[in-house]
Amino acid sequence: MKFIEKKIQNLRKKLHHWEYLYYIKNASEVSDEKYDAILAELHQLEKIYPHLITENSPTQCIGGVLQDNFKKINHKIPMLSLNSIIKSHQLLSFDRRVKIKLDDHHIIPYCCELKIDGVAVSLLYKNGKLVCAATRGDGKIGEDVTENVRTIYSVPMYLKIDVNNHDKIPYLLEIRGEIFISKLCFLQLNEITVREGNRPFSNSRNAASGSLRQLDPAITAKRPLSFYCYGVSDYFGKKELPDSHWERLQLCKNWGLPISNHISLVNGIDKVLAYYSYIERIRASLEFNIDGIVVKINSCKYQNKLGCGSKAPNWAVSYKFPAEIRSTKVDNVIFQVGRTGIITPIAYLEPIMISDVIIRKVSIHNINEVKRLGLMVGDTVRIQRSGDVIPKILEVVLSKRTDRVKAIKFPHFCPICGSLIATQYRQSILRCTAGLSCLAQRKAALEHFSSRKAMNIYGMGNRIIDQLVNKNLVSTPVDFFNLNENKLLCLEGFGAEHAKRLLWAIENSKKITLARFIYALGIRGVGETVANNLAVVYKTIENLVTADLRSLSDLKYIGPIVANNIYHFFRNPDNLKNIQDLIDPSIGIQLSVII
Ligand code: IVH
Repeated sequence: MKFIEKKIQNLRKKLHHWEYLYYIKNASEVSDEKYDAILAELHQLEKIYPHLITENSPTQCIGGVLQDNFKKINHKIPMLSLNSIIKSHQLLSFDRRVKIKLDDHHIIPYCCELKIDGVAVSLLYKNGKLVCAATRGDGKIGEDVTENVRTIYSVPMYLKIDVNNHDKIPYLLEIRGEIFISKLCFLQLNEITVREGNRPFSNSRNAASGSLRQLDPAITAKRPLSFYCYGVSDYFGKKELPDSHWERLQLCKNWGLPISNHISLVNGIDKVLAYYSYIERIRASLEFNIDGIVVKINSCKYQNKLGCGSKAPNWAVSYKFPAEIRSTKVDNVIFQVGRTGIITPIAYLEPIMISDVIIRKVSIHNINEVKRLGLMVGDTVRIQRSGDVIPKILEVVLSKRTDRVKAIKFPHFCPICGSLIATQYRQSILRCTAGLSCLAQRKAALEHFSSRKAMNIYGMGNRIIDQLVNKNLVSTPVDFFNLNENKLLCLEGFGAEHAKRLLWAIENSKKITLARFIYALGIRGVGETVANNLAVVYKTIENLVTADLRSLSDLKYIGPIVANNIYHFFRNPDNLKNIQDLIDPSIGIQLSVII
């Protein structure tokens, strides 16, 4: 039983972490499929062990934590999520289930829609005027983004009078829809973002979300956001709304609200399957990214009868597309040295577009994986990528192997500094033994130090660090804080404006939590969570530096290996000097304990 409890806790922890990344950081480290699979596993366990269900389990509440910057809006009608399916047999079971629950064994009319990859919003119109726009937030409380939404061209400020049907606009109309960025605008936005020295958005959903949640509406106004309405959540008007969801959407269209022209009303689940295949075929030619279709029971009377769970309605599902797989050729395999000296084989590919991203290289993790794949340079390989997920090689297409392929030679010395390589884990992991005297490790350590989750020096990307190290302007972290305009102007493509912005970002990074500072040091095995815990326990960097092995080993949440790593990290004179330099009052770093 203890084992099950632990397993459930672990699943919840993972899901909460991903939700935090998704809703707060506008980032994601797993595919939707992976997220859905873990959520389904949790659902399954909670079904068998219902007494272990807790109120804050991700199965009971929709993910999402709120940022404090926006005024909060209570959603009178909760903004729910959708249950996802990925296989056609799951769609058939959905159809069977609803028929049983409705006690109607006739063919069911479904409204099929695109599942646009953007941000959900709720728009409230009173007497035809847009009075409030809110994000989903946690489903019950969202953020007031009215001013920002007002800048979106496709969102009408006033509803149009519908001459065909209703002669009057409704007293109250609340609609739900998706704010998104088209594929083309996303590429253009990222070009500008990079040109201005900022980090590009990893996908169009993050770009839409980041643009919508700008504190300054003038910035949102400059972003190419679009909107489609996909449902009516509340209505009060002279005439009753039609029972058909599809007809309701047509009414919205007549009121001037944009709806997608790929919405289709079909009879029966076979037609839904046909719609899915059609959309899958035309997906690449759509102007915006979608990750599947949404299938809704068309009758609102039936929708009400089926009702909703706490997380998702019982009358709709999202039928997601599988991860995209494409073939391409491996041009070369090089061995890349990472921050901790681990040497990873990287396959350089003939560039290929998968899920709207150009893939030029993939990591092969370790040499055992190269052996397992039986990969040779010049091979054709099948690459899989879905959504935000890191692409991977699935297999070598042996039927396409020519006699021009070349064997991959595993290195015996570090490809960057020439030091001896040590092997670990039954020879599968190669590691350069030179530590920070290896240029690759030094650059990677500096990248880690300045990265978003660490010191968060905004705009300090790997290309800049590369140049700073090559030009001997930076070799240890403290050197970042001794940069000045003159030094930065030596860098390629740097003007005064860019230099000023970067110096400002460096200055800004000095007010930092102790947890982030500890994480930034790059101690092996000390990720964000362990760094947070260390900050809570030791409270000052001095206490942590002087902690003895016994005290570190006694900590509940770290194992003996990490405890040992931490202890020895602070016994290394180079590391101690780095820390001393960084916390010297002349630098001005202020560490706070709050995490
Ligand atoms: S209906 C109660 N329809 O998907 C029904 N959602 O996983 C709730 N989405 O946050 C949603 N396209 O933002 C619906 N045609 C569509 C959609 C759609 C995209 C998003 C929506 C929601 C998420 C649910």
